[in-house]
Amino acid sequence: MPSLYSSYTLKGHQVMNRLVMPPMVCFNWSDDNGNVTDEHITHYEKRGLGHVGLVVVEATAISKIGRLAPSQLGIWNHEQVEGHSKIARALGTQGTKSLLQIHHAGDKAPKSVAPEPLAPSTYDLHDGRSTKALTLGEIKGIQKEFLIAALRAEEAGYDGIEIHGAHGYLINQFLSPLTNHREDLYGGSLENRLRFIQELLTLLKDHLPEDFIIGYRHGGNTPTLSEGIEISRELEKMGVDLLHISAGIAEEKDLPKPPESFPYSWIVYAGVETKKSVNIPVVVVNGIRTPEEAEPLIEKDLSDFAAVGRGLLVDSQWIHKGEQGRAVNPCLRCKPRCFYLSDGKKCPQYSKA
Ligand SMILES: Cc1cc2nc3c(=O)[nH]c(=O)nc-3n(C[C@H](O)[C@H](O)[C@H](O)COP(=O)(O)O)c2cc1C
Repeated sequence: MPSLYSSYTLKGHQVMNRLVMPPMVCFNWSDDNGNVTDEHITHYEKRGLGHVGLVVVEATAISKIGRLAPSQLGIWNHEQVEGHSKIARALGTQGTKSLLQIHHAGDKAPKSVAPEPLAPSTYDLHDGRSTKALTLGEIKGIQKEFLIAALRAEEAGYDGIEIHGAHGYLINQFLSPLTNHREDLYGGSLENRLRFIQELLTLLKDHLPEDFIIGYRHGGNTPTLSEGIEISRELEKMGVDLLHISAGIAEEKDLPKPPESFPYSWIVYAGVETKKSVNIPVVVVNGIRTPEEAEPLIEKDLSDFAAVGRGLLVDSQWIHKGEQGRAVNPCLRCKPRCFYLSDGKKCPQYSKA
């Protein structure tokens, strides 16, 4: 029977346990140049020392105009590779496998980054700006930026990438009729809405080594759970190696409804339901706090991996403590939002992590 503590072979890479650290941006540690800093290296090194099986390094911008914030990490120029190689090494020397999450925010780029953010279609945003619909040439340009980012991630020594296709960012915007109103080959039918990611995956598979892991973070409710599952099946056919199921665009109306007896969030439910329909490994995430909560997901084969985000921010020794039957440090669920989103050092549990 699989357990949270058993290893998993992913595309020839031995992942030492089923714990995943999901991508979590550490804003304010870098600046406008998007370079990795010593804080980032220490932060990831700690999770390597804590023997997390697989770390997905935070959303890293493929272009300056695709950033989510001015201090987001970047991989849009070659000088940024050196810093990433230090993160990859800090994790790899502890036996932790690593993926770099590559990201374009699309319409979620703030004013300070993009006065006219790029998106599949033109529409008004809540802050008075309008998006700029991508031309066919710009679509090809962004796909190339994703490819160059992936090649740099490989050069840096990561074991793979995770394409950020969730949380309402650019790729998610292509997949949802809420934000994709195009009437050309990239909009309308599901086949057309999938075209951006299909072409991107073809490019990646043509240029990256055979054993380089291509993960995809999917908004499982994009645009509904059943179509989200259909999208996952298509992603599998296109060659994705690992599916990480999270949430899609916040405004999607038709949220998955787990049965009352289901003890996890609707986002975990979307992951569990997706796993039933695909043959590639799945990571579930959201609200998993303790090893006792994570364990049944793996033991009952509801998921291949369990991702624990805030839990690992407040306790890098999470998996060791689980194995020894010791209590983990609790995340205090700060309101209105997690302090890590402004500066991790303000997290009330930072020093205990
Ligand atoms: C501080 C912080 C930063 C985050 N940054 C990212 C990110 O870079 N990319 C991403 O896909 N999700 C991001 N997320 C979402 C997490 O990956 C995860 O899905 C979420 O925290 C739910 O998991 P949890 O309940 O275990 O924390 C972030 C979450 C937090 C709290």
